[in-house]
Amino acid sequence: MVPRAMAEGEGGRAVPAKGAIRGVMGLAYIDLGGLLGLDGLEALDDEICLALSQLPTGYTGGSHRSMLIMPPGREAEAWVDYGEVIAGLSDADYLTLGGLADEPRGWELAARAESTWGEERALGLSRRQMLWLEYKHRVYFPWKVFYELMPNRWWGEKSRGEGKRFTRNAERFFAKTIAFVKRLPFQEIGRCNIMGLQSFDHGTVHRDGEGDGAPDEFVTLCPRPGKRLYLLDGHGPTAQKVAVAGRAYWFNDHDYHGVEADPWFRYSVRVDGVFEPSFRDKLEAYATSLKEAR
Ligand SMILES: [Fe+2]
Repeated sequence: MVPRAMAEGEGGRAVPAKGAIRGVMGLAYIDLGGLLGLDGLEALDDEICLALSQLPTGYTGGSHRSMLIMPPGREAEAWVDYGEVIAGLSDADYLTLGGLADEPRGWELAARAESTWGEERALGLSRRQMLWLEYKHRVYFPWKVFYELMPNRWWGEKSRGEGKRFTRNAERFFAKTIAFVKRLPFQEIGRCNIMGLQSFDHGTVHRDGEGDGAPDEFVTLCPRPGKRLYLLDGHGPTAQKVAVAGRAYWFNDHDYHGVEADPWFRYSVRVDGVFEPSFRDKLEAYATSLKEAR
């Protein structure tokens, strides 16, 4: 048994994994508030908002449809996709885009037919390129305030900490946030970033990977409540949304997920890594107790 406050209140909501939702440990997601202890989390909001207002942030998302990671029947929700836009550019416009790259090598017309662009692709996009795609070609980037405290190039390397560190700017502007993150029960951290959505933007529904293996281990922190993340059970018009509650949570990012639009800025901090074995055991016991308490 778990205390009633933990079973039903913050830090202990139990929603079983069902339908198309694979979930984590038999639950659609785990609200980690009751396990982690969130003292000091809310205070990070002051530091994060002040830092984001001073640092050069980037965009992310914007190619979920061309990456084929959206649920069938909901592809239109992504609006204009940069993968499709870049593929259809005239040669002249392609050269304009290439001229805005941080690293011009690879953007030659001769290499275009073999090129791929953006997230998880050979040619990453610079901030200038993303802005031009937005302004000139109406590309929709769901996350317009993206900041990497611990950068990571490839998705498949996000859990491994070897050779990675918090950037100097992150250490300077996010000292309390980094201290909080370092107290989380990871044996190594491979990626830490802030994902912010501007007012009225929605996070297009997508999944971060495919397959039935063990879910990737990460913690999402919400220093400020109100970011409305949901999981999608099924696809098409009958799909059901499962709202994710809590200020710190873990879900299976191979499940389809998205963020509802709201008329104000929202963000969360995502920390990827490898959980400490003892924390994994605690999670198992906690998930079991939540399921039994239902
Ligand atoms: Fe995602």
